[in-house]
Amino acid sequence: MAGIYIHIPYCRKVCYYCDFHFTASFRDVDPVISAIIKELEERKHYLKGDKIDTIYFGGGTPSAVDFVNIKAILEKIYGEFTIAENPEITLEANPDDLHPSYFKNIKSIGINRLSIGVQSFIERDLKWMNRRHSAEKSADSVKFAYDNGFTNINIDLIYGIPGMSNEEWKFNLDKFFELEIPHLSAYHLTIEPKTVFGVQKKKGKLTEIEEEASVTQFEILLEETAKRGYQHYEISNFAKEEYFSKHNLGYWKNHLYLGAGPSAHSFDGTSRRWNTKLHKVYIEKAGTGAGYFEEEVLTKEEQFNDYILTNLRTMWGINLNTIKLQFGESYALETTKTADKYKEYLAFGPDIIKLNNKGKFIADRIASEFFTDVNEESE
Ligand SMILES: C[S@@+](CC[C@H](N)C(=O)[O-])C[C@H]1O[C@@H](n2cnc3c(N)ncnc32)[C@H](O)[C@@H]1O
Repeated sequence: MAGIYIHIPYCRKVCYYCDFHFTASFRDVDPVISAIIKELEERKHYLKGDKIDTIYFGGGTPSAVDFVNIKAILEKIYGEFTIAENPEITLEANPDDLHPSYFKNIKSIGINRLSIGVQSFIERDLKWMNRRHSAEKSADSVKFAYDNGFTNINIDLIYGIPGMSNEEWKFNLDKFFELEIPHLSAYHLTIEPKTVFGVQKKKGKLTEIEEEASVTQFEILLEETAKRGYQHYEISNFAKEEYFSKHNLGYWKNHLYLGAGPSAHSFDGTSRRWNTKLHKVYIEKAGTGAGYFEEEVLTKEEQFNDYILTNLRTMWGINLNTIKLQFGESYALETTKTADKYKEYLAFGPDIIKLNNKGKFIADRIASEFFTDVNEESE
């Protein structure tokens, strides 16, 4: 089982919170897409012949570029890799791009899952974040997707926005339930230094919400989604049973993945690699085998920490047997000791350690308590 991630680094408008790699200039779309195709050709053996179960077009905004580009990349993937029978093929989309002819086009090339960047159903918040769509379009895009035969749909929502009341957060969630969307990615707003919000914060023009208000909104999220039968299967992800994102599960379960495109990350089981963000370098070097990425072989300690970080965030938790087999007895013993120390934040099953609701509020902190020192000698 393996996945392919394609980074399409273009957006029509700059969202004030966003720190992902993208550009609002479309000048170099053609050469970047050609370079992605060259990279796929060059790296056809990266996944060691594993079957591809999932393909994910992320960004940036993949729906912002002409669909023929997505088509050309998919054709290349089908030409060079072994694809499983019913692969999950996701496309991230902006509500504004989702009109009838677009659905027809992406359906014809095999896209079967949509991840729509709704962010909010409230006009004021969309404007504040500099989103390009209206609140009406947020809802309509989902309805249009259904009308055009897409059922496997995710929307992204952001909470913890300054000025957003608990009632407004509930309103957004109610809208999500009303539209009967099977998957939700809900992110607390983070203020990243190199964004417009980051600059505003530095100048004292933006104040983040109080910790207590953040916790309350997270509680509302957990309560409301549970009431409606959504599984909280990863810290930021909620879905009906049949609709978990297979692609993201691959990341969290440490499956191999190949990431192509500027800034994309890859993992081959033992090493990680990440591509340059610089389009000029990427265009020139992709396909030549070197000069456009960095690579790092993970030590056993780093692999262990990755295992903890990714798995503890899921509803399946970490498994002591897996730790024993993969990393050794001493790692399992240390994990048990740490679990005992932090048991008020954890839930336990046979050989399983998971976060309880209290632990979910501080997931990354608890995960770091389980980490092993990367500079220590491995056994
Ligand atoms: C790579 S973005 C792609 C979204 C898509 N391009 C769109 O038009 O919205 C993935 C998601 O991460 C979330 N996100 C990105 N930056 C964030 C931040 N600073 N705080 C909270 N959520 C963020 C947003 O919900 C966003 O939809």
